[in-house]
Amino acid sequence: MTLSDELERLRGDAASRLAAAQNADEVDTLRHDLLGRSGELTALMKQLGSVPPEERPAVGRLANEVRGEVERAIGERLEQLRGSDIEARLADEAIDMSGPGRPMPVGHLHPLLTTMRDLREIFHAYGFEVFEGPEIETDEYNFELLNIPPDHPSRDLWDTLYVAEPGSAEAGASRPDPDGTILRTHTSPTQLRAMRALEPPIRVLTPGRCFRHDAVDASHGFEFFQIEGLVIDRDTSLADLKGLLEEVARALYGRDVRTRFRPGYYPFTEPSVAFDIGCLVCGGDGCPACKRSGWMTILGAGMVHPTVLRNGGFDPDEFQGYAFGMGPDRMTMLRHAIGDIRLFFSADLRFVTQFAEGR
Ligand code: PHE
Repeated sequence: MTLSDELERLRGDAASRLAAAQNADEVDTLRHDLLGRSGELTALMKQLGSVPPEERPAVGRLANEVRGEVERAIGERLEQLRGSDIEARLADEAIDMSGPGRPMPVGHLHPLLTTMRDLREIFHAYGFEVFEGPEIETDEYNFELLNIPPDHPSRDLWDTLYVAEPGSAEAGASRPDPDGTILRTHTSPTQLRAMRALEPPIRVLTPGRCFRHDAVDASHGFEFFQIEGLVIDRDTSLADLKGLLEEVARALYGRDVRTRFRPGYYPFTEPSVAFDIGCLVCGGDGCPACKRSGWMTILGAGMVHPTVLRNGGFDPDEFQGYAFGMGPDRMTMLRHAIGDIRLFFSADLRFVTQFAEGR
């Protein structure tokens, strides 16, 4: 076989071996095998010297041509392989933009807090500002200053949780201790704190947690919320209180809400009233949430008792006032037709997430 034949054979051979190379490494090996210092084409080129002089220019040209071709083919094959590598990676890393997004859970207010915020806003429009008091109270503020001395039978209305040092004589006792501390049974003690701290006219709202040693059922919890309201001025009346509460009920439940006032009794107000709303859980037919009465009491209220005014530092001949204590738990139940107060504290997401749209 002449050198020219060998070059032609190598040309075809190189082309098919290159086409068979599957990645850059294989192409490199091939480059080395063909063009390396002891490569196949290099070996052929070394034989040029033994070609007869008259044929040498033609064979030389052929050799250079083959070499150039092989080099170019190697470069092209590398390009090709790199290109398909990129396509494979792109396919691998592609993001399907048409797929649905992953949900991002966001927290929201508990329905009870939404009601409390709404109430705060409604009362704000009537000039009330927030005045907070402690959850752990003294017997004095929770009872005595509110006209409930230690032996007063009305203490039985409040199933009190007393706070005592563990191991002390009082620990476990359920008898009133005039010097003792308790978990406040209502937000009314703040009436005295506000009267003693503020100058008249006073218009305050006290939202807060209260505690009672109560048997838990569909409408009672041992832990619940109240919002206390107190107005002290030279010229306030039961009519003001009535008008205000009816407006608040309409703002919260809509113009069509049914309301009623009943006589009530509290040692710290005189006269005292209870304010009811037509049960929105059952529409008035009677259900467990309204104790089958068709009505739900959402607050107690009345004119501040002269003794309490005096305890707060006011002369009852000069100042009057009214006070009310609302139960936002019940108010929220009415608002959303919730039949059981225990759901509020159940930490059951199936319940809570229903109010995600709220606010
Ligand atoms: N503190 C009373 C209760 O817990 C409610 C109340 C507040 C009544 C203010 C009259 C005036 O039942």
